[in-house]
Amino acid sequence: MIKIKDVSFSYEGNPKNALTNVTLEAARGDFLGIIGQSGAGKSTLTRVINGLVPHYYDGVFSGDAAVGGRATLESSPEELARSVGSLFQDIEGQLFASVVDDEVLFGLENFGVPRDEIESRVEYALAAAGISDLRTRAISTLSGGQKQKVAIAAITALKPEIMVLDEPTGELDPQSSRRVFETLRELNEKHGVTIVVVEQKIMMLCEFVSRLAVMNGGRLILEGPVASVLKNAEKLEDAGVNIPRVTTLALRLREHGLYDGEPPANIPEAARMMRTAVHASL
Ligand SMILES: Nc1ncnc2c1ncn2[C@@H]1O[C@H](COP(=O)(O)OP(=O)(O)OP(=O)(O)O)[C@@H](O)[C@H]1O
Ligand SMILES: [Mg+2]
Repeated sequence: MIKIKDVSFSYEGNPKNALTNVTLEAARGDFLGIIGQSGAGKSTLTRVINGLVPHYYDGVFSGDAAVGGRATLESSPEELARSVGSLFQDIEGQLFASVVDDEVLFGLENFGVPRDEIESRVEYALAAAGISDLRTRAISTLSGGQKQKVAIAAITALKPEIMVLDEPTGELDPQSSRRVFETLRELNEKHGVTIVVVEQKIMMLCEFVSRLAVMNGGRLILEGPVASVLKNAEKLEDAGVNIPRVTTLALRLREHGLYDGEPPANIPEAARMMRTAVHASL
C-alpha cells in the first residue's frame, strides 16, 4: 500500500537533510503512528506519502516512493489525492468553505463524483466523522475539534484507501483528541482505511495504532508493533521522545523483579501491570 525505499530529501535553500535513507512500508489496513521531536522529519515523511515532496516542495530527492501501486515521482499530487487523503499540520489553511456541507461537497465536485452519488457520500462522510448534526453550521462557529472533524469528513467523502494526518489533534484538549482518534479507528476498522498519523500525545496514540515509527534527525530509527518499539527506552530518549511514565515504571518494576511483561500500551494493560506488581510485592 505504501512503500518508501531509501528516500532522502533536502529542501531547497536548506542544506540539512530533512530525510536520510528512510525505508518504510505500510500494508493495507495498517494504523501507523509517527513520533519524534520537532524537526525530526515527520511532516516531511507525510509529504513523501502524498507526493507534495518533491512535487510542491523543491529540493533534492532520491530513492523511491510508491503509494497504492503508483510511483509518487511519476504521479501528480492531484492523481495521488484519489488514493491518499491528507490532513495538514495547519488545519485552518485546509478549510476553505464557509459552511460544513460545502467543505465536504467541494472535493466531491472537484473529483467529478457523479451527481447521484454525491448526497450519499456527504451523508456517509459526516456520519463517519460523527458530525451529521453540524451539516449546515458555519465553519467559523465551530470548535477546534469540530473543525478537525470537518477536515476529516472532507477527505473521508473521497473514500481514499489511505489517510495521512499530520498532528490532527495539535490544538485539541485530551477529550476532543480522543474523539478524533475514535473517528480514525472507525475508518480503519470498519472501512479498512490505511492510516498514517503524526501525533505528539504518545500515550493516547499507542492506544489506537498498531505500529509506531520513530523519527530522529531525518532518520527512521525504530519501527514496528507498539510494544516492541516502546521497549527501546534508550533510543527513544535519544530521539527526544517523551516516554510514557507508565513505560518507565514498567522498566523499573522489571528491574526489581516485580513485573516481567511488556510495558503497557494502554490503560487496561497498565492496570493489569499494577495488579501484578502489587501481588508480587506482597
Ligand atoms: N518548507 C521547508 N523549507 C526548508 N526546510 C524545511 C521546510 N520544512 C521543513 N524543513 C526542515 O526539514 C527538517 C524536518 O522538518 P519537518 O517539518 O519534517 O519536521 P517535523 O518532525 O514535522 O517537526 P515538527 O514536530 O516541528 O512539526 C527540519 O530541519 C526543518 O527545518
Ligand atoms: Mg511537523
